[in-house]
Amino acid sequence: MKSLKEQIDPKKLPAHVAIIMDGNGRWAKGKGKFRIFGHQNGVNTVRKITEAGAELGIKYFTLYAFSTENWSRPQFEVKALMELLVDTIGKETPTLMKNNIRLQTIGNREDLPAKCNRQLDETIETTKNNTGLTLILALSYSAKWDMINAVKAISEKVKSGILDSNSISDLTINEHLSTAAYPHPELLIRTSGEQRISNFLLWEIAYSELYFSPKLWPDFTPEDLYAAIYDYQNRERRFGKISEQIAEKA
Ligand code: IPE
Ligand code: IPE
Ligand code: MG
Repeated sequence: MKSLKEQIDPKKLPAHVAIIMDGNGRWAKGKGKFRIFGHQNGVNTVRKITEAGAELGIKYFTLYAFSTENWSRPQFEVKALMELLVDTIGKETPTLMKNNIRLQTIGNREDLPAKCNRQLDETIETTKNNTGLTLILALSYSAKWDMINAVKAISEKVKSGILDSNSISDLTINEHLSTAAYPHPELLIRTSGEQRISNFLLWEIAYSELYFSPKLWPDFTPEDLYAAIYDYQNRERRFGKISEQIAEKA
């Protein structure tokens, strides 16, 4: 019997997998611990899943780590999350180097504490020539924030005459989002059983396959990632066409 990993077709891998890492708080609560204990354990999952994805040959991983809306959580949780971020990025930089992983971020970096930004800048710089997986952390990110910025930038260009409003296309929008340098995710995974998008990559997931796992993020394993990718590979992506047209092309 082939393992799940062996059943994955390396020729049909999604280039970009986006993950809404959810359920840390509930995981900790279930163990009678504080929420931050869940976040600390969630970091281990990030490491394991990133390594598993890099090993498979995934090119881009976007992880939703902190949303615009998450600023409204109790201040001590926000502070603990920011400290965990600086700590983790610092500690994990050698692992990123070892695995040839390049770190990038999307989101409103201006809102992050200076210490976080310094550590992020340092690790982004250190890993910039790595050619394996690109790990994109969404920090203080929301899709609406990104779209508002894109609309502002586009309207400025129209106003100053650099851009003709009639020429605005799908590509124009793509180019003005913080995700401009990356392909759109073929697969979006959310853990913890919640079935919503929570303001993540709204434009970019227009045709992504969605996969909801009941596992809480700290319990999510490489096997669960393989299961999601295997499931994705067995779907028919029709992009508005009919099944026969897709079969003809294959
Ligand atoms: C996801 O876990 C991590 C972040 C949003 C930072 P949660 O903290 O949302 O955990 P639950 O959903 O409350 O269990
Ligand atoms: C989404 O999780 C944001 C991240 C995973 C960073 P939340 O736990 O904040 O989402 P909602 O509020 O339950 O939708
Ligand atoms: Mg949550």
